Amino acid sequence: TITPVILSGGTGTRLWPVSRASHPKQFWALASSRTMIGETLQRTAGAAFAPPIVVCNNAHRFLVAEQLRENGCEDGRIILEPAVRNTAAAIAAAALLAAQDDPETLLWIMAADAVFRYPERLPAILEKASAVAREGYIVTFGMKPDVPETGYGYIRLGAPLHPDHPDDSVYRVARFIEKPDHLRATEMLNAGDYLWNSGMFLASASVMLAELKRHEPDVLENVRHALLNSENDLTFRRLETTAFLRSPNVSIDYAVMERTDRAAVIPADLGWSDVGNWNALWELGDKDACGNVAVGDVVLEQSHNCYVRSEGMLTAVAGLTDIVLVVTSDAVLAIHRDYAQDVSALVSQLRLAS
Ligand code: GDD
Ligand code: MG
Repeated sequence: TITPVILSGGTGTRLWPVSRASHPKQFWALASSRTMIGETLQRTAGAAFAPPIVVCNNAHRFLVAEQLRENGCEDGRIILEPAVRNTAAAIAAAALLAAQDDPETLLWIMAADAVFRYPERLPAILEKASAVAREGYIVTFGMKPDVPETGYGYIRLGAPLHPDHPDDSVYRVARFIEKPDHLRATEMLNAGDYLWNSGMFLASASVMLAELKRHEPDVLENVRHALLNSENDLTFRRLETTAFLRSPNVSIDYAVMERTDRAAVIPADLGWSDVGNWNALWELGDKDACGNVAVGDVVLEQSHNCYVRSEGMLTAVAGLTDIVLVVTSDAVLAIHRDYAQDVSALVSQLRLAS
């Protein structure tokens, strides 16, 4: 079986003022009429999949439980983190829990908030990836980079994994470089044999646990204790705080992917977006004849390539170009689309000011 593991710990600061710490972006319907975590859960429906495991912060437990119910995933399990300890710890918890049922189950690890333009391509890619994961690899899904993005992981394509079938498009990972600086990112983009890591992984629970043990044993041992001493009720599994806090705060990319020799990559054009900022939502959105994306009660005149979203308030715009305008009941954001990345800096200023 494949056990979907959904990581739902992010706060989505750059999508302020809609995304807030108490109600982050994955719980909003931003890219479609469903919440982003709802879309993600829908992708895990079907006979090929066991019920999902969602790992999230304690503060979001009811939001997650509601999403599981609304998307027909009542059998899903929810692991609650008492604090933020990053993705290595979250994945360790899910892998340990899944391994209790079956150490050989394949974990399909994914973000709660990614968007795929071509989700219909997933089944075939997952089937191919499953065979590779069964050979003992951690499979990554590589996307063609087009800008020197510094917020992603880069994967250098290695030799074909199956030299007898070089056409099957499965490669060794020659190197994994998480979040390079701008110069390095530009070099890798120009080199042409690097792909972006989509942040989605497929590996058996046993391989993931073995690699965590080998490369980041402190994470694994502390999370193991946190799970052993966890409290359960029907819906939630609460990791024990003291042990969990002892886990290093490190992402799976630094903890395992940069170090393991068990990584493989399948190039996959899924039309993936991590919906990191408002400009990404403009790119994904349905545009009018002037390139504007308007969501909610919005009127536009003589405006071009704008993203305007209103949560309830009538919003009228004229003569603007390349602007993001987001109106909520208690805050308004107005920025140039080129500044979409800088919203997190704005939000930190707001925190200091308040
Ligand atoms: N449960 C839980 N706990 N989830 C977490 C935690 C945590 O402490 N931290 C992050 N997550 C979730 C986020 O909500 C998101 O869905 C996913 O894990 C990835 O975390 P990010 O913090 O968004 O990672 P990133 O974007 O910096 O980098 C990763 O994703 C890129 C693609 O979007 C890496 O895997 C990169 O290599 C990759 O390119
Ligand atoms: Mg991300």
